[in-house]
Parts: sequence; structure tokens; C-alpha cells
Amino acid sequence: MLSGQNTKAIISTDVKAAAEYLRAGKLVALPTETVYGLGANALDEAAAANIFVAKARPAFDPLIIHQSSADRILRYAREVPAAAQKLADAFWPGPLTLVLPKQDVVPDLVSAGLKTVALRVPNHALTRSVLEQLDFPVAAPSANPFGFVSPTSAQHVADQLGERIDFILDGGQCEVGLESTIVGFTNGAPTVLRKGGLPIEDIESVLGGPVAVRTHGSSRPEAPGMLSRHYSPGNRIELFEAFAEEKNLPPNAAWITFGQGGPAVSVTAQSGATVYDLSPSGDLAEAAQQLFRVLRLMAKHQYDYVGVQLLPETGIGRAINDRLRRAAATE
Ligand code: TXA
Ligand code: MG
Repeated sequence: MLSGQNTKAIISTDVKAAAEYLRAGKLVALPTETVYGLGANALDEAAAANIFVAKARPAFDPLIIHQSSADRILRYAREVPAAAQKLADAFWPGPLTLVLPKQDVVPDLVSAGLKTVALRVPNHALTRSVLEQLDFPVAAPSANPFGFVSPTSAQHVADQLGERIDFILDGGQCEVGLESTIVGFTNGAPTVLRKGGLPIEDIESVLGGPVAVRTHGSSRPEAPGMLSRHYSPGNRIELFEAFAEEKNLPPNAAWITFGQGGPAVSVTAQSGATVYDLSPSGDLAEAAQQLFRVLRLMAKHQYDYVGVQLLPETGIGRAINDRLRRAAATE
């Protein structure tokens, strides 16, 4: 079953088979509550190297490693500051990644030569069950080609990487829909390195004070998911504070809106633009779930122009706006 010529990934809910593929050093796409990951044995350099090839990911971009419990993942950290332990206790399993000094057993390839490693306990029953069966952690970036939108369903993974990987564990649609929030530590003090599925407000309330946010990178960013042009569906995208129907839009135009109260998809009377509302009722969690699916539709329909209404800059809305700004970035 593990051999043979794989030209197309198997899509299945069989957790035992997923574990078997991972033990054999193969790539397996795994569902998490945030997005689907492209997993491989994190302690096997050859297996992990395949991730970079399949995604066309630059070697300077380190991977997150995953395990089924805090105990099992924190053993890969050399030190755990008190604030990190607090966050692990409060939010794992969940959409939080901690960047901590790494143990030598973690290959340099996985951490891209950094002295730190990114650790996470995902909250998805199927993937936790796979992880429980393994005696190694699983390195998993989002299961998309480098620079593109992250996948939130097994079909999204199959559409883009189905020819390059062996097995996709189908865990349905991702509940959160945005990648984990990444927190690093300098002398024990936390800094948010990527806005994500865990609102910064929740982190601050557990730590009892404001945390620093440093999410902007350059050519060799500390957390390269921060490259400003990432999540790009390839359309011309313009950002607005409010939805305003334009008269002079190109014929093949779309809008992405929030909280407009109408149907999830509609067409404007004046310009005939297709309007996708991320959450007609104005629910930020629903908007997060829908975001990457809708960005994929922008790519699929190749709209010549996409107007985007930014969301309220609060809770998970901050991470959604971060992704929308990156999707719109031209360099
Ligand atoms: O929700 C998620 O985090 C998903 C699921 C699959 O777990 N994973 C994910 O992985 O988003 P990826 O590779 O797409 O993004 C990982 C981010 C990258 O921006 C990377 O630069 C950063 O984590 N990262 C990894 N190791 C790091 C380190 N040692 N220091 C700073 N940033 C790091
Ligand atoms: Mg990614």
C-alpha cells in the first residue's frame, strides 16, 4: 500500500493509514482547526526536506512542529519561560504556536538554521489521534504552494498539491480558518510574531498585560510568513473601510464584504460586480472560516478587480485584515 506510483493523493479519513505513511517518511496533509498542514516526520531530515520541495518553499522559512499534548511537544524546547507555560496551559490544544529555544534533536532544516523552534498542539480529533500514535513530532506548514492562500478543506489541498503528495487526511472544513497566532519570547517577554486564530486580546488577558506585536518582515524576516506579499490570489485588489458600489468597475469585478445583511453571494445592480459577504450577520469567527475559501474563488474566477471592505480591527478581525492586506500587497 505504501509503495507504487503515486500520481494522485489518496483522500481518506483513515487515521491509522495516515500514521503509517508518516512512519514511512511520506508527506501527509493533515486537518487542523486552523488550516490544513503538510506533514512529515520532523526528526527525519529527508522526510522534512520533501515538504520544502512539494511547496516550493524557500529553505530560510522554518516549519512548525506539532504533537498531541503540551508535554509531548514542550520536550523539544530547551527552556520554557513562565509566560510560555501559561499560554500553553490556557490555549493548547488550540490556534497558538510558541517559538522557543530548540533542542538539538530538532534538525536545522526544520528550524531553518535558527536556534529556536515553533511548537504547536493542534485541536482536531483526527490529527491528534494520528499524533498520539507516533513517537515523533510532525513538521507541518500550511498545505499550499509557497505564497498562496492556505487550504481550509481536503479539496483545497488536492486541487493544488494532490499530484505531489501521497495522502490527504480528510477532516472536513477547518473550524477557525486562519493560521495559528505565533508568539516568541525575548528574555521571557512575549511578542506576537504572526496574528492568527487566537485573538491577541485573549493572550493579553491570560498574561495580565499588553503584549508586543512585531509582525512585519523584510527580505529575511524572523517569521517569513510575514513577507508582505503572501496569501496572494493574483487579482488586483483594493482595500476600503466601507463597501461602496462603484459605477466604473471592469466587467469582471468582485467585492469581498462583511456584515451587509444580505445573501452570502449577490450581484450589484449598478456595476454587476459579484459580492461575496464573509459573514452577512457580521460574525468575525464566521468571516475567518470563509476567508480563504473566498480568496480561492477570486483566483478561480480570475476577477480583473476585487474591492475589499476591511473588517473591524478587533479580536480575530485583526488577523483577517492582516491576511487581506497581504493578499492586496503588490510587492
Ligand atoms: O495554523 C498553523 O500554524 C498552520 C497549521 C498547519 O499548524 N501552520 C502554518 O505553518 O501556518 P506555516 O509554515 O505556513 O507558517 C509557519 C510560520 C512561518 O511564518 C514561519 O516563518 C514561522 O511560522 N516560524 C516557524 N519557525 C519559526 C521560528 N523558529 N521563529 C520564528 N518564526 C518561525
Ligand atoms: Mg503558510
